[in-house]
Amino acid sequence: MPYQDYIIKEGKFIGKFDEMYKKFKDPWNLAKLNSKGGNFDYQIINLYCNQLKQLKKQKLKTLEIGSGYPFLSDLLYKNNNNIFATDISETVIKKSKKKFPKIKKKLYINDFMNFKLYNKIKPDVIILSDITWYVLPHIKKFLKWFKKLNKKTYLIHSLSIYPKNKQKYGKEYFYDTKSMLKFFNLEYLNITSVKHSMRGDGKQIFFLAHNR
Ligand SMILES: C[S@@+](CC[C@H](N)C(=O)[O-])C[C@H]1O[C@@H](n2cnc3c(N)ncnc32)[C@H](O)[C@@H]1O
Repeated sequence: MPYQDYIIKEGKFIGKFDEMYKKFKDPWNLAKLNSKGGNFDYQIINLYCNQLKQLKKQKLKTLEIGSGYPFLSDLLYKNNNNIFATDISETVIKKSKKKFPKIKKKLYINDFMNFKLYNKIKPDVIILSDITWYVLPHIKKFLKWFKKLNKKTYLIHSLSIYPKNKQKYGKEYFYDTKSMLKFFNLEYLNITSVKHSMRGDGKQIFFLAHNR
C-alpha cells in the first residue's frame, strides 16, 4: 500500500498520518529532496521570512503548523528565526526530536485546530506549507481565529495544486490561484506561483498575507 493511501484514497480523506509515519521513513520524499541541495519551495518561504524580518527589524517568531519532519523549520532556525513547529503525528514529532536535537524543544504534538498553543506562542508569522488539503473543513474557522488576533500576524501559505481535471479532492473549496485567494479572502502582500518541475503537471502557489 503506498503512503498516499493513508491520507487520501480515491478522492476520499483517510487521514491516518501517524500510521503512515510509523510505516514510511520519508513520505513525500522530503528528506531525499533536502539532501540533494535543498527544496525550492522552502527557499521561497525563507525569502518571505527574510522580508518580514527586515520589516520588523528584529528576530521573527515563526510557527509552522503540520511540519512533519521539520526540514523547513530547521532551515528557518538556521537563518536566525525563533521557530516553533507542530504536527498531529506523535510518531513524527518523537522521531524529529532525535533527528533535529537543536530544535527539539520547539517541536509539539498538536492538532491544527488547537489554538491554545498558538495563543501561548503568539507568533509573528504562521506557516501552512502543504497541509491545507488535509484540514480543508477547518480552514474557515482557523481564518476566523486568525483575523481576530489582536497582534498583527502574517500568514505564509504554500500549496500544491493540480489541474482541475486531475485534482480529485477538495475541488469544491478551490481549484486554482484565483479561487484559492477568494476562498482565503485576506490582505495579500505577495502571490507567487511556480510550476512543478519534478512532480507532474501541477504548480506550487505561495502567498504572504496578514490579518490586519
Ligand atoms: C505534506 S506534509 C508537510 C510537511 C511540511 N510542512 C513541509 O512543507 O515540508 C503534511 C503534514 O501535515 C500534518 N497534518 C495533517 N493534518 C494535521 C492536523 N490536523 N494537525 C496538524 N498537523 C497535521 C501531517 O501529519 C504531515 O506531517
